[in-house]
Amino acid sequence: MRVGIIGAMDEEIALYLEAMQETKTTTKAGITYYEGTFSGRQVVLCKSGVGKVNASVCTQILIDAFGVDQVIFTGVAGAVHPELNIGDIVVSTDCVQHDMDVTPLGFKPGQIPFTEKWIWEADQHLVQLAVEAGQQLGEDIHVVTGRILSGDQFVADREKVKALYEEFAASCTEMEGAAVAQVCAMNEKPFVVVRSMSDKADGSAHVNFVEFTKLASQRSYAIVEQMLSKLSPKAIVYSTKGCVDCELVKQWLTAKGIEFEVRDVMTSRAYQEEVERFGFMGVPVTVAGDKAFKGFHPDELEKLFS
Ligand code: ADE
Repeated sequence: MRVGIIGAMDEEIALYLEAMQETKTTTKAGITYYEGTFSGRQVVLCKSGVGKVNASVCTQILIDAFGVDQVIFTGVAGAVHPELNIGDIVVSTDCVQHDMDVTPLGFKPGQIPFTEKWIWEADQHLVQLAVEAGQQLGEDIHVVTGRILSGDQFVADREKVKALYEEFAASCTEMEGAAVAQVCAMNEKPFVVVRSMSDKADGSAHVNFVEFTKLASQRSYAIVEQMLSKLSPKAIVYSTKGCVDCELVKQWLTAKGIEFEVRDVMTSRAYQEEVERFGFMGVPVTVAGDKAFKGFHPDELEKLFS
């Protein structure tokens, strides 16, 4: 299992970079990807750059070239809900592109024309993990779930923010989450967005943004770090059809009650590359978190899950 972690700006990924181990760096489409381990999980970290186009390109590359299974967006946002304050945290229930506006042709605000889609729901398990992680940060840190808006606009206007709240019943606004959400949905990958409020998207937003981005980024980081450590180490079995040892591994996992996903390396070059990234040729390869083992040996498999 590989988790993609995206932030839009240097401040939003700085703490992850410091904490990551065994980092391998690759640049694609001008975006640098850092593969390594963080909080006991295999992750690919990157700074997408600001805005929906950057976020979309980055997410698709994370999925295609780095084989991530789920995506977490981490960073800061402007509060839209009147009761939210700087430093509060919003975990996405869903995301909407507030600047998608084809209303003159009869579509809803945010609706992608000629589709029924206007909201993208976050993965419930990831949301739950993020909320539980947030609750552990301490009573003085306010964590809520809610709708996250994205648009290619830095919102710094009291009237605009009021209009966004009334139109979309949103919690906060930022510039990437809904793009990540849509790309994840198009690829059937789960996602969640975790945003800490750097400002209230009003007339002082530009001043507060500069002052509070570092603190807010630290809070989002603290949640993601916690939630990753709780992600269940679901196993992946790389296999091929007709491979006897592959079947034995699957039977062993089933008998142990360990949930697993099968990836047939003959069906995808990406799966073969994933096996190679663990330093193996051939199958079965069983992966749990950042550990992997090739072959069928009950004792070794036992160690993988201990
Ligand atoms: N990110 C942080 N604050 C924001 C705001 N006010 N508008 C858009 N994106 C933001």
